[in-house]
Amino acid sequence: MSQAATPASRHDANQQIDRSLYPQHLQRVLRLIERALEQSGHDRVLIHSGAASDYFLDDRQIPWHVNPHYAWLLPVHSQHCAVLIEPGQTPRLFLQQPVDFWHAPPQTPAAWWADHFELQTHADSYSWLDQVNDQAGLAVIGDDPMLAQRFQTAAINPARLLHGLHLGRTVKSDWEIGCLRQASAIAARAHSAVAEAFAAAVASNTVVSELDLHLVYQQAARQCETELPYDNIIGLNEHGAVLHFTDLQKQPPARLHSLLIDAGASATGYAADITRSYSASANDLHAQLILAVDELQQQLVAMATAGTDYRDLQLQAHRLIATALQDLDIVRLDVDAQLQQGITSAFFPHGLGHYLGLQVHDVCGLEDDHGEPIARPEGHPFLRLTRKLEAGNVLTIEPGIYIIDQLLQPLQAQQPSAFNSSAIDALRPCGGVRIEDDVLVTDAAPVNLTREAFAAHV
Ligand code: GLY
Repeated sequence: MSQAATPASRHDANQQIDRSLYPQHLQRVLRLIERALEQSGHDRVLIHSGAASDYFLDDRQIPWHVNPHYAWLLPVHSQHCAVLIEPGQTPRLFLQQPVDFWHAPPQTPAAWWADHFELQTHADSYSWLDQVNDQAGLAVIGDDPMLAQRFQTAAINPARLLHGLHLGRTVKSDWEIGCLRQASAIAARAHSAVAEAFAAAVASNTVVSELDLHLVYQQAARQCETELPYDNIIGLNEHGAVLHFTDLQKQPPARLHSLLIDAGASATGYAADITRSYSASANDLHAQLILAVDELQQQLVAMATAGTDYRDLQLQAHRLIATALQDLDIVRLDVDAQLQQGITSAFFPHGLGHYLGLQVHDVCGLEDDHGEPIARPEGHPFLRLTRKLEAGNVLTIEPGIYIIDQLLQPLQAQQPSAFNSSAIDALRPCGGVRIEDDVLVTDAAPVNLTREAFAAHV
């Protein structure tokens, strides 16, 4: 194996995304970057795509992910490239085109995107550095250690500029929404294939393993693991209670009770993040819980309108979950008592959702427009989004109810009469329920990208 692997990009521009939207997107991003430069006091910025590093004491590379700020600018991503942006000038793209017989070369630049840049190709990783000599007023965004060595007087990843870029990314352009829709379409196709495989196993009274379901997912998505925006979470039975269960078992369980699958897809670097829960039984308590969470999830999606403070949605989610727990006779306390005693937090310990985009937990969810932190509501330490929503935001809405004994048992021990222990015992083998959709906030009603994608797939 060679030590200097430069894999070709797999984030091909997707044929189904309307390329005519790209120039307008790029112009908008350049304007946002220029404004961020003005506010941070820098004259220009160099945005590096990134470079893979090796595993410790090995010549194999750790899977590489592009610097998301580079991906914001360009639909095709490969290592050792950089864009130099100077207000009023055509952005300069330093594109590596290595002479390499070990690996497939990066794609040849296509006119539809490359024509918007002053393009300079280079054969090796760092020769382009000679083209960027003036470091006065220069900011550099990237994590290759070479950048700090080479640009010793430039500002490397200055916080104020980074905040400006992060803020710009919270509102998506039409091009980005097209990418996100495409990611949802791929993920919905793959989720449907997994749902069918699970239903077929249940119907034939056989079993299936988590790894088998993962392979079904990947085959239907036609995406390699490194293209998926996060490791697939596929939990059968009690594994559904492990919030990030990625330890896919090769052996099927003796019996199927339930499936929780939280799995995404990517399109031109943009992520989908979707969760569905299934019961092996048509009408047991777990099946009823799925219906209840699905209903309250859709209520919450409808509330994701411009001007809504996401923290209020988080609090509202807890109220709705308390209602469901009471209605299903799992908890024998009213809503206010459950909230006061922190009972819903034991059943639903994570945040309601997060921004979604080039990163699955997209940036700026916890900062105001000036980069100051916006506190989470007390008692909600894992919430990832505390901003007011605005048109163009894309985010997830993902309430859940789980049987997590380490959280529930201390509460049950304190106040046994508040809990229906036989209901909890019946739910325990099913793990938990989570329903998660990707939602576009607009000036009118929210657009549910996930449910649109499932509807189009059927
Ligand atoms: N759905 C995976 C995550 O949000 O971490």
